[in-house]
Amino acid sequence: MQHFLSTADWTQEQLDGLLRLAADLKQDPIQDRLRGKSIALLFLNPSMRTRTSFDLGMQQLGGIAIVLQPGKDAWGVEFKSGVVMDADAEEHVAEVAGVLSRYCDLIGIRAFPLFQDWAEDRNDPVIRALAKHASVPIINMETIVHPCQELALMMTLREKLGEVRNRKFVLTWTWHPRPLNTAVANSALLIASKFGMDVTLLCPEDAYRLDSRFESAARDFTDQAGGSFQVTHDIEAAYSDADVVYAKSWGALPFYGRPDEEWELRRKYRHFIVDEKKMALTNKGIFSHCLPLRRNVKATDGVMDSDYCVAMDEAENRLHVQKAVMLNLLGL
Ligand code: CP
Repeated sequence: MQHFLSTADWTQEQLDGLLRLAADLKQDPIQDRLRGKSIALLFLNPSMRTRTSFDLGMQQLGGIAIVLQPGKDAWGVEFKSGVVMDADAEEHVAEVAGVLSRYCDLIGIRAFPLFQDWAEDRNDPVIRALAKHASVPIINMETIVHPCQELALMMTLREKLGEVRNRKFVLTWTWHPRPLNTAVANSALLIASKFGMDVTLLCPEDAYRLDSRFESAARDFTDQAGGSFQVTHDIEAAYSDADVVYAKSWGALPFYGRPDEEWELRRKYRHFIVDEKKMALTNKGIFSHCLPLRRNVKATDGVMDSDYCVAMDEAENRLHVQKAVMLNLLGL
């Protein structure tokens, strides 16, 4: 049984197949190929796009989605093994996964890291525990990676650029008032490198580099696919001749779980906002972001309202790629 936990576990050919199926579904969105099928969507964190697009996508293919928010409208869940459950959680992931596997054909989960100990969070323990105990495929709706967002990004890039191999893809850290999850940044590296782009990671200083696991994967994938990978702190060099600028803010991993100390670092870097002047350095590049985005904090109104901003296309494509993932995992 195959899960959709990270695109790192899927070959480029398999991902290409998902994207081709997503393109077909975009042309012919209402079908009954998932009639009688169901998905449980477990949200441990807030969402607008993911929740709407999974629920709607399942309905558009004739199936049913059930949204559950453990700790809010469903019992809180313990994900660790062998613990004495005398804290808040009322049930264990073993039973949650077992019961939902009896009811549903698929389970999706959003479980952001806990922002306490990166050595633990980098192993993605919550979704791994769910996958271990479930007998149906699990879909990652964002943990330490966001593979559905990755597919939507790549679908959008191919729609706008055609062949993406050796096009310059810049992942830029942006300013934000607090340290955020690295998931989308990790994912952007994975997908751009898997498809052979020339990938530049732009961040203010080494403290904002991504986990070595993802930087190494980017290096390996670009080697295999004929692209390249580099890290820079030079804004002008990074934006110069870029075909794609992809923005995201994330927390500095050496200060993980210590936001007050991290603030002393990040407060210097408001100028990492994406603005029209920086975008003018690009090769008539396109701009995107996974959303939600704080305007005039991460990117200016001018960038967000420009013709080269494709964030809305990427958000729409979440719907199409996720339908493709659900069909694929069910072999339909
Ligand atoms: N991009 C994304 O996953 O959006 P939501 O957090 O609104 O689901």
